[in-house]
Amino acid sequence: MRQHILVFRELPPDQLARLQAVHDVTVANPRVPAQLPAFQAALATAVGMIGSSYPVDEALLAAAPQLKVISSVSVGVDNYALSALAARDVMLCHTPGVLDETVADTVFALLMASSRRIVELSNLVREGRWTKNIGEDLFGFDVHGKTLGLLGFGRIGQAIARRAALGFGMPVLYHARRAVDLATQAPELQGRALHTPMNELLARADIVVAMLPLSSSTRGMIDTSVFGAMKPGAIFINGGRGATVQEDALLQALDHGTLRAAGLDVFATEPLPMDSPLRTHPKVTALPHIGSATFETRHAMAELATTSLLQALAGERPAAVFDTAAY
Ligand code: DGY
Repeated sequence: MRQHILVFRELPPDQLARLQAVHDVTVANPRVPAQLPAFQAALATAVGMIGSSYPVDEALLAAAPQLKVISSVSVGVDNYALSALAARDVMLCHTPGVLDETVADTVFALLMASSRRIVELSNLVREGRWTKNIGEDLFGFDVHGKTLGLLGFGRIGQAIARRAALGFGMPVLYHARRAVDLATQAPELQGRALHTPMNELLARADIVVAMLPLSSSTRGMIDTSVFGAMKPGAIFINGGRGATVQEDALLQALDHGTLRAAGLDVFATEPLPMDSPLRTHPKVTALPHIGSATFETRHAMAELATTSLLQALAGERPAAVFDTAAY
């Protein structure tokens, strides 16, 4: 039976066609003012929704009385009112697995760029300021052999650890609620990645990478005390969620503490407001949340999300369902 699907962020044409072949589809992006009325009208009869990067809160759910499933084209689910979805018995699908290696590539690029001052020095060339050999004031910081501290050690954290340990000879410390059984989950990291208490990790790591999901327990977790506990001269990278970091504390650590540099793909408010000091800070390499943004991976995410939505609407159990009741 054809059901009404609301696509709230553009899908690749081949994936949109899969939905249109079997269901009635409204495409309306609520971030585009001209499309907001169509989005709001479609909520009334939508049984399924697919998209990303838009807050699905209780008010939105109240306007969608027939909704049975949302398929998010993202692995992170912090845009969704999880307890309200659980209470309404609305299924939430997401896209774990298909973006791990791509996000790890992005984080490693940011780590390299921050340590070796790649953007700053590239701009020096671009702007015609390369008029003599660079001096020590523009030297970088070695990456190979340095100790990496990972806050969060899920699939993406492990993919970053593989790059660091196997490619760059970096000892890896990780902090996570539970130690990962490396023998079964990541045998190549056995003896190379160590479950470490937070304060010990912060004291020992030369480069600290945060790959934390956003939840009530991680919001604002990276605060003054965390930056204060980092090794003097450490570099901080955030590839998880911006709101896990207290940005004032980060600025304080960069301006008045001993933090060497920060590489940020995510921010508390996105897009980053024009007046944010992080946008132009000389010690910050900032990216516009591009962790998974490659042609191949964004397509794979859209394909997985589309498959999950079609399965759910057909009464089948999709592979990638997020357990909203557990939150
Ligand atoms: C995700 O999938 O959650 C990434 O952050 C891209 O939005």
